[in-house]
Amino acid sequence: MSAAALDIHLTDEDLTAALRSDVREGLTAEPKWLPPKWFYDARGSELFELITALPEYYPTRTERALLEQVVGEIAKLAQAEVLVELGAGSAAKTRLLLEALTAEGPLKTYVPQDVSVSALSAAADQVSAEFPGLSVHGVVSDFTATLDNLPRGGRRMIAFLGGTIGNLIPSERAAFLQGVHEVLEPGEQLLLGAGLVIDPAILVPAYDDAAGVTAEFNRNVLHVLNGRLHADFDPDHFAHVALWDADNEWIEMRLEATEAATVRIEDLDLTVEFAKGEQLRTEISAKFRREGLESELAAAGFATERIWTDADDRFALVLAERR
Ligand code: SAH
Ligand code: AVI
Repeated sequence: MSAAALDIHLTDEDLTAALRSDVREGLTAEPKWLPPKWFYDARGSELFELITALPEYYPTRTERALLEQVVGEIAKLAQAEVLVELGAGSAAKTRLLLEALTAEGPLKTYVPQDVSVSALSAAADQVSAEFPGLSVHGVVSDFTATLDNLPRGGRRMIAFLGGTIGNLIPSERAAFLQGVHEVLEPGEQLLLGAGLVIDPAILVPAYDDAAGVTAEFNRNVLHVLNGRLHADFDPDHFAHVALWDADNEWIEMRLEATEAATVRIEDLDLTVEFAKGEQLRTEISAKFRREGLESELAAAGFATERIWTDADDRFALVLAERR
């Protein structure tokens, strides 16, 4: 299989340094929290792929079906020469975009970006083999830190699919959209996939599946801390919690200590106490309304060109132009 070029802007040492800082901040806070990007080591990326195939997890298949329907229109409106994809993961759905943009004509380059080097290098190599005419150039970086290391030149479209925008807390989301605005030129586009607010009776099971895959994904963050920072979490003593926060309109994933625990994080020389029943927030997954998406994009300097939604109004694809 052809190996795609990979630019590593986040080395293993950078990741450890960032994790140290996040863990010190998040696990000494009240209530405790950790950013969701730490789910995604090689195992976490695999678990996410398993989640996308679960019967309860509707977002991936809904976005895929919507993309299948509208990808031709997107390609016509985009006329992109370069497709940059943030948080690309396995880039499974991106094949649809790449096919449509290639058929439309001008696409020359695909730049998948991700914090997970294992997911990214596999995806970049596969796309490179499937699309021999395309130049594929992976970027390992953190999209909440800087987007400055994304390539410039050519007419670009930045895709941010899967609803990953919802995993950013509102202040991070605003900063992220401003960052995307800064790296794009006027007239270039952002294609955003976002989950919509729907009935919690459908939403909650999507984050608390019967087979327990999401629970394992959630607990994976503790394995990451054990591996990278020599912590001694016992993941079996943390229960998966997923709840709908109706005020904030987001799903919150937490890990609840099933008994009191004293956890040693050796590399930080830090001891953290968990009371029985204490919860650690590991992820939010915000869901959106059309008006909210349009106004957040407008506040960051984007004009919404089109919004497509599936027939059940569960998921939206938004094409927005950088003004
Ligand atoms: N876009 C794919 C994958 C979504 S999973 C899809 O739609 O199915 C979220 C992806 O974002 C993972 O691959 C994860 O590694 C990546 N990710 C999460 N936080 C990130 C960050 N801060 N910077 C870069 N990538 C991140
Ligand atoms: C990557 N992201 C959009 C997923 C989501 O739905 O928020 C991550 C995930 N968390 C639990 N299940 C899936």
